[in-house]
Amino acid sequence: MESDAATVAARFDLAHLPPDFFVNPYPCYRALREHAPVKQMPDGSWFLTRYDDILPVYRDPKVYSSDKKKEFGPKYGPSPLLEHHTTSLVFNDPPLHTRVRRLILGALSQRHIAAMEPGLSTLVDGLLDAMARKGRVDLIEDFAASIPIEIIGNLLGVPKPERAPLRGWSLAILGALEPVLTPERAASGNAAVLEMLAYLTTLVDQRRAHPGDSETDVLTRLIQGEKVADAGDVTTDERLTETELLHQCIFLLNAGHETTTNLIGNALHALTQWPEEKARLIAAPGDAVLLKSAVEEFLRYESSNQLGNRITTQETVVGGVTLPPDSRITLCIGAANRDPAQFPDPDRLDLTREPNKHIAFAFGIHTCAGMNLARLEAKVAIAKFLARFPDYALDGEPTRGGRARFRGFLHLPARV
Ligand code: HEM
Repeated sequence: MESDAATVAARFDLAHLPPDFFVNPYPCYRALREHAPVKQMPDGSWFLTRYDDILPVYRDPKVYSSDKKKEFGPKYGPSPLLEHHTTSLVFNDPPLHTRVRRLILGALSQRHIAAMEPGLSTLVDGLLDAMARKGRVDLIEDFAASIPIEIIGNLLGVPKPERAPLRGWSLAILGALEPVLTPERAASGNAAVLEMLAYLTTLVDQRRAHPGDSETDVLTRLIQGEKVADAGDVTTDERLTETELLHQCIFLLNAGHETTTNLIGNALHALTQWPEEKARLIAAPGDAVLLKSAVEEFLRYESSNQLGNRITTQETVVGGVTLPPDSRITLCIGAANRDPAQFPDPDRLDLTREPNKHIAFAFGIHTCAGMNLARLEAKVAIAKFLARFPDYALDGEPTRGGRARFRGFLHLPARV
């Protein structure tokens, strides 16, 4: 057994993953944590799996940069995908990152998020009614994916009839971040960036002509930019360029979409595998504390974003290994969140796990800007779903997304 794990760790290559990895990557992560926690891939990059090695990387954005130009230049070549993934805030360091993040966070305060709850409840109720009429449903298409698309559409003020293509664009653009970029993934990702740019150019023009509330409307905030006081206290506008603006919008529409779909889908799937935990949640419908900790546990147990990336700006030591400048690092969130040194009995779903300092939303200056929105969506969706369909059961083979980075299902057939 021991030597099997050592062999799994020795052979691990993110660019050549066996099919069973996508079903259950956790034995492989365990082997890596135990035998090669700072593992060099054949392509020279490094793969980290221990919680205690990953956290310091997130903590130090100066040594571990998020700027992807060096990495993505060769990966994408000159292309729409290159422009997109090197312009969005998540793949930049300060100062661009700081400016954009401030603009976005201003519209995602707890107060603004709480104000979204009534609309979210109505939306979820409508989806539940429609599922009750059908009986046999797809928990992804009929439910999990339908929630974030509306919430994120509202956040950017995308008119309802124009939301249909958002999911496909998001899957294509984020799919191009997979460790292996197939020609098909590159082609569909590039096409999606071009289509989104064309769409958003019109949307931005309309919003410029008719600005929304600059407190709550993210797009209006991004268009207007921020007022910056110079040393003489003269206030000037610091606006994003058109390219910067459009790519932040693309990123926002994508970031809150597939990840949240997968959080809800993975949670409903996990509950079918852990009936006692499911029963606990159903038995205490109004228990807000339990629901809150349950959502944290779903985030830890099947993290919808499994991988993060950084590049070293100087020589540094990680987990006892010296890495030279320009080392590309993959941070395995999925492995850190199952690290027994941080989470006792990590492969168990424990809805009251405490403490639960998972890093599903990463950590440090790039911590997910939408985490409280995602949490709210999951809480409302899961609580209402269980109240309405306590006896739901899977009915047919689930279809996994087949991705290493974004873990979730494309289809989850069930009876409700
Ligand atoms: C379960 C749902 C979600 C998960 C698991 C998730 C996960 C993450 C992670 C891991 C990062 C950090 C990436 C890195 O630095 O390497 C991130 C960043 C980000 N996420 Fe989320 N996310 C979720 C939902 C959302 C939603 C709903 C929104 C928008 C409303 C959103 C907006 C963002 C933004 C803007 C960033 C970039 C932050 C920055 O670079 O400062 N996310 N997310």
